[in-house]
This record gives sequence, structure tokens and C-alpha cells, in this order.
Amino acid sequence: MKTKLRRIIIISGTPGVGKTSVAKLLASRLNATLINLGELVVEEKLILNVDKKRGTFVADLERVSRRVRKLFTSVTGDVIVEGHFAVHVVPAESVTRVFVLRRNPDDLKKLLEGRGWNEAKVRENLACEVLDVCLYDAVKACGDEKVCEVDVTGKTAEAVVEEILSILSDKRKCWIGGVDWLGLFEREGRVDEFLSEF
Ligand SMILES: Nc1ncnc2c1ncn2[C@@H]1O[C@H](COP(=O)(O)OP(=O)(O)OP(=O)(O)O)[C@@H](O)[C@H]1O
Ligand SMILES: [Mg+2]
Repeated sequence: MKTKLRRIIIISGTPGVGKTSVAKLLASRLNATLINLGELVVEEKLILNVDKKRGTFVADLERVSRRVRKLFTSVTGDVIVEGHFAVHVVPAESVTRVFVLRRNPDDLKKLLEGRGWNEAKVRENLACEVLDVCLYDAVKACGDEKVCEVDVTGKTAEAVVEEILSILSDKRKCWIGGVDWLGLFEREGRVDEFLSEF
């Protein structure tokens, strides 16, 4: 009898792209265990220090990785790991797919400002999105074969999940390089708007 291999699926992307919303929905569709790394870090105090400038915790990646690997051994079935540093805590060889969600920086800007984040924090995160930082990290950690980009701009979380499910069942191609915010803003002469201080 053929045994179904468990899948470990990472949902990554810049803050605000919709990781939590998409991962929750995907977990319910696949009946998978969901690990939200941001919550795990806070709940279990897996913290190295506090970044006062940014007003955030700095996760202790070694401890988070140990905890995540222990969780993998204690659950059966598919697992979804959600968070922008997931590729740094899940062993690359165990990853089935990494989905890097991308959102048009103009939309992301409105969303992050709506969270009441200060200007510096918004700008820093927008620069990460424009410069493909999460994509770069994912490919560096897991190789380009496992990494898929999904442009979520203007799509509902449901539509994004359908796209992910199609890729997982090989009905749609997994690919990277389709998103090029830098090229878009270069053509529009707006690069400085996002990268002037970097
Ligand atoms: N596909 C979508 N279309 C429009 N809005 C969305 C979509 N997915 C999520 N949202 C909304 O965008 C906001 C950010 O989503 P979410 O919190 O899931 O992002 P995140 O990537 O998990 O952010 P963080 O990294 O800060 O945890 C939420 O208000 C959510 O309701
Ligand atoms: Mg989230």
C-alpha cells in the first residue's frame, strides 16, 4: 500500500501580505496542523531580545527551530508553517513547498498605515517587498525548485488558497520571477518613493 507522505508547507511574505489569513484557510482546507510562528514566539517566549527601535521582539531562531522540529514529530498529517522567518527555522530538506505571498506595495502601504505603524516601520517593510527580500531568503534557504510566488494583489484569501491548492496538486505551475515591483516602479519613475533612504 502506498503511504501518503506528509507535506510541510511554508507560507511566507512581507508583513501585511496576508499570510495569517491565507494559512488559516489553507489549513482548514487541507485539515493540516497550523503553526503561526509569530504567536509561538510570543506564547512560549522564544525571544532573544527586544528591538526597541522597531518596537518588536527578536525571535531566538535556534530555539524556535528546535520547538518547530519537536512539533513536527508530535503531529501527523500535513503541517503549515506561517511567518516571514519560517525558512530560517524549518529544515530545508523537510520542506515540500514555500509559498511567498506578494502584494503590490501601493496596496501594502495603505494596509500597513492602517495598522497605525510609524512611517519608518512602514517604509522598511515596503522596501523589503519591493526588493524581494522574502523571496530571496526562501530561495537561498530552500532552493528555487520548491519556492512559488503568489501575487495576492486584488485577490480574496479564498482565491489565493485555490491558487495554492492548484499548485499543490500540480494543476498549476509553481514559478518565481513573475512579480517585479522594482521594474514597475522604475517604469513609473517612482523607485525613490520606496527606496530613497536605502
Ligand atoms: N487576500 C486578501 N485580500 C485583501 N485583504 C486581505 C487578504 N488577506 C488578508 N487580508 C487582510 O489584510 C490584513 C493583513 O493580513 P494578515 O494579518 O493575514 O497578514 P500577515 O501577512 O499575516 O501579516 P503579519 O506578518 O504582520 O502577521 C488583514 O487585515 C487581513 O484581513
Ligand atoms: Mg500574520
